[in-house]
Amino acid sequence: MGTSLQPTLYLTVNGEKREVPAPDVRATLLDTLRERLGLTGAKKGCDRGECGACTVHLDGRRVLSCLTLAVATQDAEVVTVEGLATDGELHPMQRAFLDHDAFQCGFCTPGQLMSAVACVREGRAGSPDEIREWMSGNLCRCAAYPQITAAIAEVAAQVEGAAGNERAAENESTPAESGGGRS
Ligand code: FES
Ligand code: FES
Repeated sequence: MGTSLQPTLYLTVNGEKREVPAPDVRATLLDTLRERLGLTGAKKGCDRGECGACTVHLDGRRVLSCLTLAVATQDAEVVTVEGLATDGELHPMQRAFLDHDAFQCGFCTPGQLMSAVACVREGRAGSPDEIREWMSGNLCRCAAYPQITAAIAEVAAQVEGAAGNERAAENESTPAESGGGRS
């Protein structure tokens, strides 16, 4: 029988307000997502913080949901792999994984995707070595690592390219302070 202290756990999951009545205080976020909220995208690989298959975003940061107590996430914002696509459009990282064949069995893929999106957002995808380092918590038994790295590098380059275009547009519209024009 569960040990319940809080009457209800309130969360925002993938932009939707969700409630978990009588949460077990010992339950992990992973089990709560999968068993109470019916979101089975995050996978239980090791259940002890070693594989990364359970990675989700909690208040914008990637976390291992198998090591996160659900009751510690009261009022938090959670994003799972089910929340990556918007309006039927795949997230660019999902598209890149497809384009690069960055999976075989797909079991690790939800966690890889969530970590990959965070890795780029954190600015930790500047080179293949950096990507490998900052994705090292996500294991893939099918060894799709080269393709995963290539997919992440592609998205990081797109993001960097978009940021560069924005900077260029800003420079175009900002008058030169010294009157010297653009360099
Ligand atoms: S299931 Fe969470 S790290 Fe493996
Ligand atoms: S694609 Fe099979 S474990 Fe990664």
